[in-house]
Amino acid sequence: MNIHYDTLKQEYLDAITSLDKLCFSIPWSKNLFASELASSLAHYVLALDGESVVGYCGIQSVAGEGSITNIAVAPAYRNRGIASKLLEQIIDYGRAHKLDFITLEVRESNTSAINLYTKYGFELVGSRKGYYADNHETALLMTKILTQ
Ligand SMILES: CC(C)(COP(=O)(O)OP(=O)(O)OC[C@H]1O[C@@H](n2cnc3c(N)ncnc32)[C@H](O)[C@@H]1OP(=O)(O)O)[C@@H](O)C(=O)NCCC(=O)NCCS
Repeated sequence: MNIHYDTLKQEYLDAITSLDKLCFSIPWSKNLFASELASSLAHYVLALDGESVVGYCGIQSVAGEGSITNIAVAPAYRNRGIASKLLEQIIDYGRAHKLDFITLEVRESNTSAINLYTKYGFELVGSRKGYYADNHETALLMTKILTQ
């Protein structure tokens, strides 16, 4: 396995949309990814195995604040450090763009993702009850300060 990384491009839109369907109960549409690609406020890093998109992480930044939109790795590629590499690149992007902090929401049952974010210095700052439309699960809000 030889994983390499690239930013989101038009040619990856079908593959990232398929990957999202594999990873989430409420996946994003191709149109939504296309609008992220067109947005100067959004930045996406992809993990590729050959031509296949096997992971991605995205961030939107406004007025010095970053918000992670999503992170996902294809089931067959998990537990090999790919999400870690993606998140490191997004944090580096945040620092390079002088963001004050990066925030995110995560389902309270999503232990894997909570552990991942905690490992990279994100801290619990609050919660939103019933945030997710499918099962009314609570969202935890986590933040990593970049200015310290
Ligand atoms: C969360 C997810 C992105 C992790 O991807 P991954 O490539 O397997 O993660 P990594 O191999 O880089 O693991 C990094 C850290 O995440 C945590 N982690 C990953 N998988 C875990 C698991 N099954 N159980 C507990 N912790 C886990 C650990 O802290 C791990 O660090 P460690 O290896 O030092 O223990 C992946 O499980 C996924 O795509 N899940 C479905 C989509 C999703 O829920 N995304 C989050 C939306 S907020």
